[in-house]
Amino acid sequence: MSDKPEKFIDENGLRLDGRRIDEIRPMKMEIGVLSRADGSCYLEWGKNKVLAAVYGPRELHPRRLQKADSVLIRYRYNMAAFSVEDRIRPGPSRRSIEISKVSREAFEPVVLTHLYPGAVIDVFAEVLQADAGTRTAAINAASVALADAGIPMKGLVSACAVGKVDGQLVLDLNKPEDNYGDADIPMAMTSDGEISLIQMDGDVTQEEFKQAIEMCKEGCRQILEIQKETLRNKFTKLDDVEISDDEEDVDVSALVESTLDSSEDEDDMEASAEQEEDETGIVEDEESESAPEDDEEEDPDSAESGSDLEDVEPVEDLEESFTDVDEEDVPEDEDDVENA
Ligand code: CDP
Repeated sequence: MSDKPEKFIDENGLRLDGRRIDEIRPMKMEIGVLSRADGSCYLEWGKNKVLAAVYGPRELHPRRLQKADSVLIRYRYNMAAFSVEDRIRPGPSRRSIEISKVSREAFEPVVLTHLYPGAVIDVFAEVLQADAGTRTAAINAASVALADAGIPMKGLVSACAVGKVDGQLVLDLNKPEDNYGDADIPMAMTSDGEISLIQMDGDVTQEEFKQAIEMCKEGCRQILEIQKETLRNKFTKLDDVEISDDEEDVDVSALVESTLDSSEDEDDMEASAEQEEDETGIVEDEESESAPEDDEEEDPDSAESGSDLEDVEPVEDLEESFTDVDEEDVPEDEDDVENA
């Protein structure tokens, strides 16, 4: 670890990394970086590198953890063993459990949890490289990943820390400021400026505390713009596909279909083939129930090869059998209804 600097802010009012006291580190985000996640975001903020992945809403097991009236949000903040100078011991620690808890709570006011009772939304925030402010970096990335997953939310959550060095409040602490500063106050805010997370390490006066909140609000406002821009870029790209200038009458449904077709992998195709077989099996069963005498006349070869798609009955035959059933059953059903 580097030694404590003599001064954090120089005579020009600039910090060790050249920033002004109210300036955040450069931030960039990329969305949809993980194909198996429902939503994902990779964020670089200063020297921090964080990957967030969202899965769900999906069924929650074990069922005893299910909430009857809302979705359960699970949030896991984790620092990779190689993310800091001294290797971090893999697995949960007191620090990571605490950060996971407060980060989850930072999202609870915005996620429309009542829409998915009994389900779970899993949020994973993996810190790949840490350089102060990782919990806030993870929240910023997780917020965009949740939106990328299409989770209904009242708005995005943005997070930033304010600290105190050389007797002055500074926005978005860098590593020496975090390690040797007099205070560190990470906060998360909704897009309406409501605080959904606030923690404090160190000492500030009441007046400084109020100022810190105002400073953080401004930082979060800037971060919110970057988050929105990241999401906008994704949808602008989609718009480019759907509405091209030279094809005014573009058939959007055909485009969507072709996208879905091309994204189907072999497993999906096998699954749909199996489903077709199953459906055929059901139809055959119904048919044999409605016309048991046909069983005796059935060709044993074709019965044996029932699981082979090539030997499936032509569609017209199946339609006929449905028509037969309909014609026989409907009048009886109508009588039943009238009698009832
Ligand atoms: O990262 P954040 O500011 O949210 O949390 P922190 O506990 O205040 O940690 C500040 C910084 O210390 C982290 O960003 C890491 O760079 C570093 N750190 C570390 O080197 N080893 C740890 N076990 C925990 C944190």
